[in-house]
Amino acid sequence: MSTTTLLQEPTPTQRKGGMALDGLPTNYGDFRDDLNRDGYAVIKGAIPRARALKYADSFLSYLEGFELGYRRDDPSTVKRDMLPVINEKGMILAYGVTHEQWVWDVRGEPGVVDTFAKVYGDEDLIVSFDVVNVGFANREDLPENKPWPHQDQDPAKPGFRCLQGLVNLNPCGPTDGGLIVCPGGHTLSEQFHREMANEPRIPAWTPEWFGFTDAGMNWLADHGLKWVKVCADPGDLIVWDSRTPHYNVPPTSSQDRLAIYTCFMPVADVSQEDLVRKKEAFEKRLGTTHWPNAVHVAPTNLAMRDGKPCPKSRDRPVQEPVLDERTFSLTGIPYIK
Ligand SMILES: [Fe+2]
Repeated sequence: MSTTTLLQEPTPTQRKGGMALDGLPTNYGDFRDDLNRDGYAVIKGAIPRARALKYADSFLSYLEGFELGYRRDDPSTVKRDMLPVINEKGMILAYGVTHEQWVWDVRGEPGVVDTFAKVYGDEDLIVSFDVVNVGFANREDLPENKPWPHQDQDPAKPGFRCLQGLVNLNPCGPTDGGLIVCPGGHTLSEQFHREMANEPRIPAWTPEWFGFTDAGMNWLADHGLKWVKVCADPGDLIVWDSRTPHYNVPPTSSQDRLAIYTCFMPVADVSQEDLVRKKEAFEKRLGTTHWPNAVHVAPTNLAMRDGKPCPKSRDRPVQEPVLDERTFSLTGIPYIK
C-alpha cells in the first residue's frame, strides 16, 4: 500500500466494511479476489443462461417493435433508418428504454444484486437507470465506434467510489464486441493523475469522465498495463471499478453484442436530495447515466435523428415496469424520509 493510499480519507464504502479495491491480495475465494487485484471481474452465471437468453429475445423484440424495418434474422436490416436512434458506442439513450420491464427484470436479478451487496458489504442498495447497449456486427451503415479509453470518475475525487457493471446477454468472445479494460489500472490511478496533471484534458460533458490522451495511453503502457478484451457468456455479469481504464470495442465477428448496464451503490452513501431527484427520474421514466445517485438525469426521452425528433419517440416505455418489493427498493423511493 502506498503512503498516499494510507493518508487518503477512506471512502464511505470502506468505512462500512465493503471492499477496499486497493490491489492488495484478498482471500474471499470468489470474484472479489479478481476484482480487488485487477479492478474488474466476471461473475459467471449471475443470471441463469435460459433467463439471459429470454432477456436477449426481449431486447431484439424491442428493436423489432419500433417497426422501422430491423429484423434479427436479416443482417441487411442493420441500418440506421431501420433502427431506433443508437449512438456510435451502441447505446440507446432515449425512448424510456431504461425503464422497460425487461431492463428492470435484469436489474432485479438476485445474482446481480447480490454481487454488488457483497462488494459493498451492504444489502440496502440503489441502482442506476442506465442505458442498454447493442453492438451490431454489420456496421457498414452505422457510425464508427472509435476507441474512447476512459475512467468514469473525477480525478479530483480519488479512491474507490463506484463499481460499474454490465449484464452480457449474447456470447462474447475475443472477436465479439464488448468491454476492454486495463487490469490493475485502478491502483495506479492516483499516481497517473499526479504525474500527468499537466496533460491537457479531453473535453467531457461531466467532470466524472476522464479520457486518456495518446500521452496518457503511453503512460499506462510504460507502467506495464495492457488492454484486455473481457469475454463472457450469456448471463455473465461484468463489474469494474470506475477508475479502471476501459471502453467498448465493436465486433469483428458476425456476433451482435447485447448488454445492459447495471450499477449499484449503497443507499447510505447518498443524500435525501439525491433520492428525491432519483424518484422524480423514475416517475418520469428518465435515465441517469451509471451513477445510481442520479448525479445526472437525462432532460428528456426524446430521441433526435439527424437534428429532428425521431418519429418513433416516446416519453414512456412500451411496457411499463411492474416491480416486486425488493426491486422497487432499488429505485431508492422507500428510503425517502
Ligand atoms: Fe465508462
